[in-house]
Amino acid sequence: MAGVLPGPKALDSYTPRTNASRLSARRLWHVVCLGVLSFVAVQILLSWDSTKATRAAIPLHAAEILDKCQLLDVKPGPPPDFNLRTQSDRFVPGTKPTLIRNATIWTGRVKGLEVLKGDILLDKGMIKEVGPIEATLLESLEDFVTIDAEGAWVSPGIVDLHSHIGVGSSPSFAGTSDGNSRHGPILPWLRALDSLNTHSEAYRLSISGGVTTSLVLPGSANAIGGQGIVIKLRAPEDRSPTGMLLENPYSINGSEYDPSLSFRWRQMKHACGENPDRVYSNTRMDTTWAFRQAYNNARQIKDAQDEYCAKAQAGEWAGLGKFPEDLQWEALVDVLRGRVKVQTHCYETVDLDDLVHITNEFQFSIAAFHHAHETYLVPDTLKSAYGHPPASALFAVHGRYKRESYRGSEFAPKILAENGLQVVMKSDHPVLDSRFLLWEAQQAHYYGLPPNLALAAVTTTPAQVMGQDHRIGSIRQGYDADIVLWDSHPLALGATPKQVWIDGIPQLERPHSHAKPAEAQHVPKVPNFDEEADKTLEFDGLPPLEAEQVKGQTVVFTNVSTVILRDAAGLHETYATTSQDGVVVVKDGAITCHGTMPSCSSFVEGTKERHVNLEGGAIMPGLTSFGTPLGLEEIGSERSTSDGFVYDPLIQSVPKIIGEEGAVVRAVDGLQFGTRDALLAYRSGVTTAITAPKSVDFLSGMGTAFSTGAAHKLEKGAVVQDVTAFHIGIHHSGQASVSTKIAALRHLLFSPSRGTLEYWLSKVRKGKVPLVIGVESADAMASLIELKRDVEAKFSRPMKVTFTGAAEAHILAKEIGEADIGVVLYPSRPFPSTWEQRRILPGPPLTETNAIQTLLAHGVTVGIGVRTADIARNARFDAAWAALETGGKLSRSEALSLASINLDELLGVKTTRSQSDLVATRGGDLLEFSKVVGVISQRRGVVDLW
Ligand SMILES: *[C@@H]1O[C@H](CO)[C@@H](O)[C@H](O)[C@H]1NC(C)=O
Ligand SMILES: *[C@@H]1O[C@H](CO)[C@@H](O)[C@H](O)[C@H]1NC(C)=O
Ligand SMILES: *[C@@H]1O[C@H](CO)[C@@H](O)[C@H](O)[C@H]1NC(C)=O
Repeated sequence: MAGVLPGPKALDSYTPRTNASRLSARRLWHVVCLGVLSFVAVQILLSWDSTKATRAAIPLHAAEILDKCQLLDVKPGPPPDFNLRTQSDRFVPGTKPTLIRNATIWTGRVKGLEVLKGDILLDKGMIKEVGPIEATLLESLEDFVTIDAEGAWVSPGIVDLHSHIGVGSSPSFAGTSDGNSRHGPILPWLRALDSLNTHSEAYRLSISGGVTTSLVLPGSANAIGGQGIVIKLRAPEDRSPTGMLLENPYSINGSEYDPSLSFRWRQMKHACGENPDRVYSNTRMDTTWAFRQAYNNARQIKDAQDEYCAKAQAGEWAGLGKFPEDLQWEALVDVLRGRVKVQTHCYETVDLDDLVHITNEFQFSIAAFHHAHETYLVPDTLKSAYGHPPASALFAVHGRYKRESYRGSEFAPKILAENGLQVVMKSDHPVLDSRFLLWEAQQAHYYGLPPNLALAAVTTTPAQVMGQDHRIGSIRQGYDADIVLWDSHPLALGATPKQVWIDGIPQLERPHSHAKPAEAQHVPKVPNFDEEADKTLEFDGLPPLEAEQVKGQTVVFTNVSTVILRDAAGLHETYATTSQDGVVVVKDGAITCHGTMPSCSSFVEGTKERHVNLEGGAIMPGLTSFGTPLGLEEIGSERSTSDGFVYDPLIQSVPKIIGEEGAVVRAVDGLQFGTRDALLAYRSGVTTAITAPKSVDFLSGMGTAFSTGAAHKLEKGAVVQDVTAFHIGIHHSGQASVSTKIAALRHLLFSPSRGTLEYWLSKVRKGKVPLVIGVESADAMASLIELKRDVEAKFSRPMKVTFTGAAEAHILAKEIGEADIGVVLYPSRPFPSTWEQRRILPGPPLTETNAIQTLLAHGVTVGIGVRTADIARNARFDAAWAALETGGKLSRSEALSLASINLDELLGVKTTRSQSDLVATRGGDLLEFSKVVGVISQRRGVVDLW
């Protein structure tokens, strides 16, 4: 009986958004049920035993109850004839068919290994045909749009398995923070759908990165935070959250299933470890008990239902009473019935182990562990979960921001895949901007995940893990018409959509995309990281990161194809060859010769020298990082690992012992060397970091520049420059208004202060020390431009001013250029997190130029930075990406300058050529997916090798 579902006839006309067809389907369903019921009734009558003392009276609502009972064991999924549909339920009438001609199609089929050359026809919200398309089919269409892909890559739309898009908004407001209820650790009855804000800027931005579908989850403040929803990101015709749902699991009028629509997968958010523990002052033991108690509750209801139905179905109605159910617990009961994809935020081994125990105790499976920073360490734990091993939904390199992410590894995707476990890359938007979810897959590929699995990790795998692989995540006939046409191979750095279709509707009105280099049309060549991955496992996630220092020995880099060096005017390509005989000879951190082996032979001492084959790689200047507390902390959210915050005289009284409001703190005094973020940055070519004291709001203090590869402060060359610039922030944050902060700055610049503050401000007024102002809003920048003018008029000396963050700087590009103010953009790919950042220039494909290019065009010196210390290591890729967005208008040297000498100049670092580190890369240059194998550090007098 459990198998009885609405007949195919009823489902043929399946169009859930029109009431009429739903009702006719329902009517048919009722006919089926009535038939079943009368059969049962006849059976009961036939077995009537008048000698029995208790005679079962059939209750009034027996039909309804039997309905319910019969559906208890039905598993979710598409209707059986889903594949026969001729029109998508999400089709928007009036959408013209689209023929994409001559595409290179990554279909997602055959484990992501299938690539077809050919055409795709989109019609009725579906993929109608892939490959050669018959003329008769085209002739049957009245009118269609033809797109000539000219051989370009096409992939399925990007699917994000973990997003909070809509349950917050961008920019964020106090009134749109709807993702985390604080009303208890167990809240399975809450629904993300009830929070979904349809007005976030993020939808448009994420679509522009190729994202078409997201699983929107409640936050992780609770052990069970509520039910997630799968949405498509395009604006629906009816403008409602409901209209965004991919497959509505609910009936419009309630939370129960509508059987005429077949069962749809539901999604449930779970979280373990620090987040729910902290919010409810729990220990892990408390949280685990909270889970068990909740599941025990659900199990009791489920058992009662099963018992009840066994009796009802046997006709034993006597004393049965009401069907046992509870609106608060029905979703959790559904988890136990295998109808819910359980998405579990879980980092650490202990938490993974706890949850696996719970799955076995209560017999339900987990769809995926999210964040899952330690899953790669315990594949067997995952494999012992109930039902099937959970997938791991990961960030590529984002980690160490909290203790439970400390052992996170960039090699996790590779290691998990080698263990036969499913890998998903996810954004946790807005933790990472989901617009760049594909970048996570590109990095996973760079660090060793095979290309087919890397692309699958943001398409087919998440579609399967969320139970939607019958319609999204692959390019197949009959699937939803969610397609991205790319300007390069999707795994190439900076891949940008030329067009994105959702339900067959083009999403980019006037897409801008620049021609990409020919090599970007192929799967990028990436280094081999097998050894690093093995070391990571050997050291339980914390492999030693220190380099081997070579001192007093000559190092000969061979097979060098490019050398870029710094001179007085900037960075210049000093040597380039297409042959394999390029060498660079180095002694004690300085280049003694570059050229060919014969020309440099006199600098090579014979047998003692060390040879390093760069396999066509390059030697280029080391990069600089700015924008994070790199060097002031090890784990962001662990205060015990951090230097802490400075006093802010604008909002609090400063203790007498440090000089009251005349105190200025120097970051150099709080430096910590050898943090994992610093060493990983170093191993990625970021040899210098500039860090300012951690500020509460307005006043920060004196920045410092240090060597990321140094072991301690007293080592030679560890501190590049003890004091670099005076840092303050003018943001809409904290207690004081923006105007108050500008008034405070005016006061500081015009009137003498006290103590060390006056010492540094006098240098700022004279232009000897830069004034570095963290500011996002163009309006605040305009006021600061005027203030600079006023100060300079009064003291008749030019000041050095730099804006950092500067999301809206492009609006004042001309004025900033005229005022001779520098700009450090961070992040380099902007996102409107806050109101004061709302007017970003998003760059291709939404706008032709990006902010970097716009500022450069007005003569502004531009640097780029990052917001979190863990991604300081990505400076090389950020610089390369910025250049790609300009379509080749920035040279390699100019791109490198953004993340090196420009930052130094803007932030007050006076390095000379001899103090600049150089970075050696194997198999490509620093701006490509090559491997950094060494640093030549003249200031430290060493060559560091890995
Ligand atoms: C497809 O596009 C490529 C690149 O522009 C071109 O070389 C090729 O001839 C095209 N093929 C067809 C069938 O149009
Ligand atoms: C929902 O309820 C309204 C008002 O009672 C009714 O008109 C509508 O048909 C119902 N919709 C469905 C899908 O049952
Ligand atoms: C130089 O590097 C290229 C590119 O990796 C490689 O093909 C070649 O074999 C190398 N030659 C030598 C002599 O090492």
